[in-house]
Amino acid sequence: MRRLEELTRNEIIQIKKTIDDKYEEYKKEKLSLDMSRGKPCQEQLDLSRGFFENAEPLISRDGIDCRNYGQLTGLPEVKELFASLLEVEVEELIIGENSSLALIYDTVARAFSHGVAEGATPWGKLEKVKFLCPSPGYDRHFSICEFFGIEMITIPLNEEGPDMDLVEELVRNDETIKGIICVPKFSNPTGIVYSEETVNRLAAMKTAADDFRIFWDNAYMVHYLSDKRPVLKNILKACKEYNNPDRVFIYTSTSKITFAGAGIAVFASSKNNIDYMTKLLSIQTIGSNKINQLLHYRFLKSVDGIMEHMEKHARILKPKFDLVLDIFERELEGLGIASWTRPEGGYFISLEVMEGCARRVVELAREAGVTLTPAGATFPYGKDPRDSNIRIAPTFPPLEELEKAMEVVCTCIKKAALEKMVE
Ligand SMILES: Cc1ncc(COP(=O)(O)O)c(C=O)c1O
Repeated sequence: MRRLEELTRNEIIQIKKTIDDKYEEYKKEKLSLDMSRGKPCQEQLDLSRGFFENAEPLISRDGIDCRNYGQLTGLPEVKELFASLLEVEVEELIIGENSSLALIYDTVARAFSHGVAEGATPWGKLEKVKFLCPSPGYDRHFSICEFFGIEMITIPLNEEGPDMDLVEELVRNDETIKGIICVPKFSNPTGIVYSEETVNRLAAMKTAADDFRIFWDNAYMVHYLSDKRPVLKNILKACKEYNNPDRVFIYTSTSKITFAGAGIAVFASSKNNIDYMTKLLSIQTIGSNKINQLLHYRFLKSVDGIMEHMEKHARILKPKFDLVLDIFERELEGLGIASWTRPEGGYFISLEVMEGCARRVVELAREAGVTLTPAGATFPYGKDPRDSNIRIAPTFPPLEELEKAMEVVCTCIKKAALEKMVE
């Protein structure tokens, strides 16, 4: 197929007419397809059938009665399991409740009320707090920042991670930059994995703020789509190596392993940070839900058990990702109006449409009955400077719906581009 920009105006007008007609046909179908959020599908949730079968007795390996209070930082066997998975020490993590996002919120809230460490100035007492936000990124991270009045600085996210030259320069010179919020593996939405060099540079860089923290949201740490398994360097180890042991807060959860919103979340960091957070946590709660922890342990059993379970997810998800990529290739390849990522894991495909067209594509899709993640959502303050990024979430819809939705989306991408070209 020829690049659209190489066509004559008459050819463009003709193609536009065909695409407009096709779009009107889709509208008549009165579709109602939701591609907006990265949720597991029913079949994935069904993989955890049997989760409740081993409930009795609710006594842990070490004889702890999980029906009662206690164990503020989690059941020992669950801590051991996640310590192995995250490759940290048992003393370097806390098992939380059902949501890693809530843990991120909690740590930010504590930083504002009490500071990130014993004796550190609470961020709430400062006139300005800024975060670096590699983008495209996760909209809910940006919402947390906005909620706390954190000024967000957009950092371009490349194949290897954030633009580290820019990151290093900014943090070296600005004491009000207190954090960077990252999805280092199968990033939401571009699917990239931070390179070893990026991890080392984040761990080693000089920061003007001595209470600078890396918020390391490793939500997709074991969420591969095939047997290609890119490795993410252990950032806690790197921070120790570079003599910044307390720099990183690590988060993960089983939301996309067992049950979304009903899994268990984990916070990992240096022992120093864990001790401090445990002290603050003891004011917030008597302890988290140990019954859920115990059932997760009995169901997942070991790191190997987690990996086997994740292979079952991959078998469901790979065909969905492949379908989206095949449709993009068939409909858009060579036209010069869109490009997209081909992730090896995670929950998203990141689509770049012609500059200035993302909002229009999302609007056209909505009018044709396909809900996409709002354009701009992948950038701080909902403002994509190029208005070109759209997050595609292929996991939830069944294959037939996904196929239809993507065909509609491709038509919308062409329609928006052609509209722009005849302006
Ligand atoms: C990067 C990232 N972090 C966190 C979450 C939410 O995780 P949880 O359910 O553990 O709060 C998501 C969900 O889409 C996500 O994409």
